[in-house]
Amino acid sequence: MNERTLKPSPRTLRVILILSAFMAALAGVFALIVAMSAREPPRLSAASTIGGPFRLIDHNGRTVTEADIKGKPHLVFFGFTHCPDVCPTKLFEVSEVLSKLGPDAVKVGALFVSVDPERDTPEKLKDYLSSFNPHLTGLTGDANAIAEIAKAYRVYYKKVPLDAGGYTYDHTAIVYLLNKNGEFVAPFNLNRRPDEAAADLRRYL
Ligand code: NI
Repeated sequence: MNERTLKPSPRTLRVILILSAFMAALAGVFALIVAMSAREPPRLSAASTIGGPFRLIDHNGRTVTEADIKGKPHLVFFGFTHCPDVCPTKLFEVSEVLSKLGPDAVKVGALFVSVDPERDTPEKLKDYLSSFNPHLTGLTGDANAIAEIAKAYRVYYKKVPLDAGGYTYDHTAIVYLLNKNGEFVAPFNLNRRPDEAAADLRRYL
């Protein structure tokens, strides 16, 4: 018997049918992913409740207000230079994302807002940030100005005395993504490869 005349057994046919159905389902899922990624970047319905006016001083001593962050998407996060682990980690992760943006890094802003203005003077912030990506901006201000922006961004921060003397801060570690209009979009996910996070950020340029 010639091989070409062989008919597939019912069992083989069933396997082929199951495989075809599986491939069709995969194609459907793939089409959905393509359709979803082509949509407008997602925006939380609570967008208008996060963010607001502020008036702070950057690490070069210049005044920065909410008007200055319009025109570029921004990452905004809060912390303090004496933070033992969370802040340095976040600053490192954000630095990696900014590095992956290459020349486009100038088209985004990244604001590190101090919740410890007592120790974090502009000079101290400048010195501290020199270990990270140069496109990061440190912001500080008086206690009232910090309280105001923390309230606007719903950031929790609390001074905690240390047994050994001195103090630390508990604080919210969310990185907020703001679009070009200065509107809050969503928390920015840093739990992924820096190039993936950079590609996500690029969608807002
Ligand atoms: Ni911290």
